[in-house]
Amino acid sequence: MTPAVRRIAVLHGPNLNLLGEREPSIYGSATLAEINARLGVIAAELGVSIETAQHNGEGEMIDTIHSWRGGRIAGAVVNAAAFTHTSLALRDALVSVRVPFVEVHLSNVHAREPMRHHSMLAADAIGVIAGFGPDSYYLGLQALVSRLAAAP
Ligand code: DQA
Repeated sequence: MTPAVRRIAVLHGPNLNLLGEREPSIYGSATLAEINARLGVIAAELGVSIETAQHNGEGEMIDTIHSWRGGRIAGAVVNAAAFTHTSLALRDALVSVRVPFVEVHLSNVHAREPMRHHSMLAADAIGVIAGFGPDSYYLGLQALVSRLAAAP
């Protein structure tokens, strides 16, 4: 694997810091810390390193995305939470830094309210994984690393 593939960012959006207590019938019982820990184990198995961040604010998420510039980050797994459905600014940031990303969601957003069916990000993502709970993140990381290794 080329050095450029080695560092992956995982970005979690608003309210995901409350995973485990937030609407568990929809989002499950795993906490964000547990998900991040498992992502670290999978990353090590895949031979990559990860850095994780969670922000409740759109501006902080954009600043984090900007920090990926300069070839520091090879790819990203992004759960922008509710901003997925609303934020042109997040979409513009992701496109601006030219870091390939996978969009993930714990819940199957397409089986929920119509306001969750549209994504501002999906058209610019490598792919979208939704509905598998924490496995959406793990599958997203695996698919991202596989894609980067195939076409660095
Ligand atoms: C979510 C789905 C969004 O619609 C919602 O606003 C979230 C979480 C998910 O992971 O299922 O906060 O992104």
